[in-house]
Amino acid sequence: MTPEKLIEMAKEAMTHAYAPYSGYKVGAALLCADGTVYGGCNIENASYTPTNCAERTAFFKAVYDGHRDFKAIAVVGGKDGVITGAFPPCGVCRQVMREFCSDDFMIYMGTNDENYQSMTLAELLPFSFCASEHMN
Ligand code: THU
Repeated sequence: MTPEKLIEMAKEAMTHAYAPYSGYKVGAALLCADGTVYGGCNIENASYTPTNCAERTAFFKAVYDGHRDFKAIAVVGGKDGVITGAFPPCGVCRQVMREFCSDDFMIYMGTNDENYQSMTLAELLPFSFCASEHMN
């Protein structure tokens, strides 16, 4: 699985977005260690707070299906689904990644051209709170 292919899958996932309030459509494609890919989109709510981000939708679908081991996630998003630049995962989504992923988990953020920015989870969420390190 290449980053480019994973970004393509995130773009497809973005078409599932339910974002009538912000207008920001976001898609994610989560690559599991066994090669399975889960798509996710943001799902908004009139009460705002219950809104679920695209990344967490993908993670929760995968975890429900029994996956615990992940390699990478691609994320794309933009107003009305128009990608103008990299769409970095929010802090809550980074913390959800931390729950299941190691420092070298890759985050690919697609941009408006065929390019993308990539960062590791350690770079996106340094000095993080992690159950395996802080609760045992
Ligand atoms: N959003 C995501 O889906 N992922 C993120 O990491 C950041 C924000 C969504 C939530 C909301 O529906 C819209 O983008 C605007 O915040």
